[in-house]
Amino acid sequence: IHVVGPNAGESAERGVAGPGRLAEVAEVRAAIEALLARDAGQRERKPLTGRRVVVTSGPTHEPIDPVRYIANRSSGKQGHAIAAALARLGAQVTLVPGPVVLADPPGVSTVHVETAQEMLDACLAALPADIAVCAAAVADWRVAQAAGQKLKKDGGGPPTLAMAENPDILRTLSQRQGDRPALVVGFAAETQNVVDYARAKLVKKGCDWILANDVSGGGVFGRDDNQVILVDATGAERWTVLDKQAVAERMAGRIAGHVSEGA
Ligand code: CTP
Repeated sequence: IHVVGPNAGESAERGVAGPGRLAEVAEVRAAIEALLARDAGQRERKPLTGRRVVVTSGPTHEPIDPVRYIANRSSGKQGHAIAAALARLGAQVTLVPGPVVLADPPGVSTVHVETAQEMLDACLAALPADIAVCAAAVADWRVAQAAGQKLKKDGGGPPTLAMAENPDILRTLSQRQGDRPALVVGFAAETQNVVDYARAKLVKKGCDWILANDVSGGGVFGRDDNQVILVDATGAERWTVLDKQAVAERMAGRIAGHVSEGA
């Protein structure tokens, strides 16, 4: 007997939250596939067997004081699905998610973090790696000095929060000397000039591929379907609208193809 979930989150009863949600169908499917593949995998060599991968996923939480934080609406669905898809192809995957309600994908080593700095530290601890996929929506800024105690209303008006810049994990991994992963993949969400902006980001950060989300038609966070364009230094390939699971499968396939070309 193998157990999938339960996941944490809001329950059907309004205002009630905690563990008890049915795992997402995609997670149940991934767990079944991982179990079925496990035995088969021992017989057949998979395309990413022996490859080490680090994947970031979800948002980061940057504390203001012990009870408040700055965050964003990233669900982690895409990053988690990519981590699971790479593991199904035989990779040894370290997934570094910020706070998410998703269950840890099966067959993946998951290191939970809260802040951008912790995410960077966990990624660096996972090196050396052959491949890095930075799917997390990392907060660009943190509060420079998080308060040790809860901030109180003192009648003096709203507090002023001095901010400090967070480390850029994608750029740091892309520009490592000596232990740079051979393939570094970043993400971008754009509403216009998608390919140009994605390529500029690729150059600025020094990564090899950018999976650009065209979000001109509405938000992408938390949704299941995605219009993506895979951009590298020389070309751009627009994929049909796919759900995040299918984007993950195709991405993992592309990575496996690239790795085998270079082998
Ligand atoms: N990223 C990161 N660490 C950060 C910020 C971003 O690793 N501190 C990674 C994300 O995981 C993603 C890519 O960088 O792969 C996104 O780049 P970013 O410059 O954050 O994109 P946008 O937020 O879309 O930037 P902009 O507002 O400039 O378009």
